[in-house]
Amino acid sequence: MVESGPWTPGQLSFLLGFEVILVSWLYSEWLHYKKRSSHEKVHSDSDVNLVELENQISKEDEKAGLLEGGLTKAASPTNASIIANLSRFLRRDESFFTENRAILRAMAEIGGILIYFYICDRTDIFPQAEKSYSRDLFLFLYLLIIIASGLSSLQKHHDKSIFTGKSLLYLNRHQTEEWRGWMQILFLMYHYFAATELYNAIRVFIAAYVWMTGFGNFSYYYIRKDFSLARYAQMMWRLNFFVAFCCIVLNNDYMLYYICPMHTLFTFMIFATLGIFNKYNEIKTVMTVKLIACFLMTVVIWEVPGVFETIWSPLTFLVGYKDPNPKRTNLPLLHEWHFRSGLDRYIWIVGMLFAYFHPNIERLMERLEESEPRKRQTVKIVIVSIALLAGYLWVPLHIPTRQANL
Ligand SMILES: *[C@@H]1O[C@H](CO)[C@@H](O)[C@H](O)[C@H]1NC(C)=O
Repeated sequence: MVESGPWTPGQLSFLLGFEVILVSWLYSEWLHYKKRSSHEKVHSDSDVNLVELENQISKEDEKAGLLEGGLTKAASPTNASIIANLSRFLRRDESFFTENRAILRAMAEIGGILIYFYICDRTDIFPQAEKSYSRDLFLFLYLLIIIASGLSSLQKHHDKSIFTGKSLLYLNRHQTEEWRGWMQILFLMYHYFAATELYNAIRVFIAAYVWMTGFGNFSYYYIRKDFSLARYAQMMWRLNFFVAFCCIVLNNDYMLYYICPMHTLFTFMIFATLGIFNKYNEIKTVMTVKLIACFLMTVVIWEVPGVFETIWSPLTFLVGYKDPNPKRTNLPLLHEWHFRSGLDRYIWIVGMLFAYFHPNIERLMERLEESEPRKRQTVKIVIVSIALLAGYLWVPLHIPTRQANL
C-alpha cells in the first residue's frame, strides 16, 4: 500500500464534483421513471420501444462518426450553449436532466470506477495479493478470449479507399483497430499476472502500437487534411482524460502512466509534421524533407546529451518523476521520461513512411492477388516466413534487467 495522507485539493474537488454528479444522475433517473410511467398509461409499449430504439440508433451513428474523425455538431457545443446549459442545470430545469441522463450516468460510472481504484490502491479495505504467473493459465485465458470473440463478433468488413473506391486489402481501419485491441488485452494481462518472461514480446507490441499511431495519424491528416484545433483537442482529451483523473484521484505522477504521455507526444509530432506548410504535403520533395527532418530532430533530441533535458525542463512538473526505489532515487527527475519516451523514438516515423507508401504497397498486393495461384502462394509463404523469423529472433522468452518497473 502507498501512503494515504491527508487528501490533496484535487481529491477533494473530485469528491465534491462526484457527489453533485451522483445526485444529478439519480434525479434524472427518477424523472425518467416518472415520465415513463405516466407515458405508458397513454401509449402502448411498442410505441415507447420504437422511440427508444430510434434514439439509440442515432446515438450509435453519432459515435461512429466521432470515431472516424470529423466533429459532429452535437459534440462541439458553442460557448452560448454551455452557459445556457449551465443555467438550466442551476435552475434544476427538469428537461435538462432528462435530456442528459445518459451523460450523467456515464459521468457517475467513471466516478464510481475511480473511487473503486482509490479503495483498492489507497486503503486497506481489500488486502493486497501477490501477483503470480503461470504460462499455461495465461495462454489458456488468451485462447478463451480469442474463441469467445471469434464466436460473438467475427465479421467481414469492406473498407473502401477514398481514392479508388475499391476495398482496402490490408491495414484498413477495422484491421488496425482489431490489432490494437488484441495487443491491449495482452498489455493488461501482462501487467495483471506480472508475466515478466513476455517482456520482449510486449516491447515489440508497444512498438507496433506506436507504429500505428504514426501510420493512422499520417493517413488521416494526409488524406483528410483536417487540421482543426477542435478535432485535435478532442483526440487529446480521449487519450488523456482517464489518466488525468487517475493521477488526481490516486495522487500519482503522470509518468507512472508513461504510455499516455508518449503517445500524446508522438501524436503531436505527427500533427506538427503534417500541419506545418500542409498546403505542400502533396509535393514529394516537401514530404521527403519533412520525414528526414523528423528523423534528424529525433536524433538530436534523444541522442545529443543535454538537449532532451533542456527542452523538457519547463515541463518537469508534468513529466518529472522521482523513483521511490532507493537505488534510483538519485537520478535526475527527467530520467524516467527520457528513458521511456526514448524506447520507441523512431518507430512512429517508420509508421508514417508506411502510410506514405501504403498506396504503392496496396497496388503490389492487388497485383499479387491477381497473379497465378502458384506464384501467389510462394510469395505469401516467403513473406510470412520472414515475418515469423523476425518474430522468432525478437520474441524469445526474456528476463528483463529492469525488472522493478515492468
Ligand atoms: C492517432 O494516434 C492516437 C494515439 O495512438 C490514436 O488514439 C488515434 O486513434 C490515431 N488517429 C488515427 C486517425 O489513427
